Amino acid sequence: EQVKVSLNINGKKHKLSIEPRTTLLDLLREQLHLTGTKKGCDYGQCGACTVHVDGQRVNSCLALAVMQDGKEITTIEGLAKGDDLHPMQEAFIKHDGFQCGYCTPGQIMSAVACIREGHADSDEEIREFMSGNICRCGAYPNIVNAIKEVKN
Ligand code: FES
Repeated sequence: EQVKVSLNINGKKHKLSIEPRTTLLDLLREQLHLTGTKKGCDYGQCGACTVHVDGQRVNSCLALAVMQDGKEITTIEGLAKGDDLHPMQEAFIKHDGFQCGYCTPGQIMSAVACIREGHADSDEEIREFMSGNICRCGAYPNIVNAIKEVKN
């Protein structure tokens, strides 16, 4: 049986009918075709699926879509303003904060939350906050540098 939910995603209202067990990640990718949010592990271990729900970062693979009724969701697609990239996106480009790019949307969503939630005062603090976002290419030092640039 389908359940109705109403979500605000990147500033746009969506009324949807979904299976109760649908994750927010699958809803975003498969029903709304917002494929910037990536599926890495699908069980809360890699951070590739990170989005913001009411301003807090969330692993969307662990969040049931029905629980997000009435909430404001921001995905990587919602960060840029028209043709202007978000300062964190600019900083990742400037500091080479990626190689293959697969983890990058999740890294950037966490990086924005890192500063917003006040955990970017030192390299250690940044590394700790970002530790749930895995990068197989090992771009970690450059990601920390990107965050520090936006913070300062
Ligand atoms: Fe969600 Fe890995 S896909 S944490």
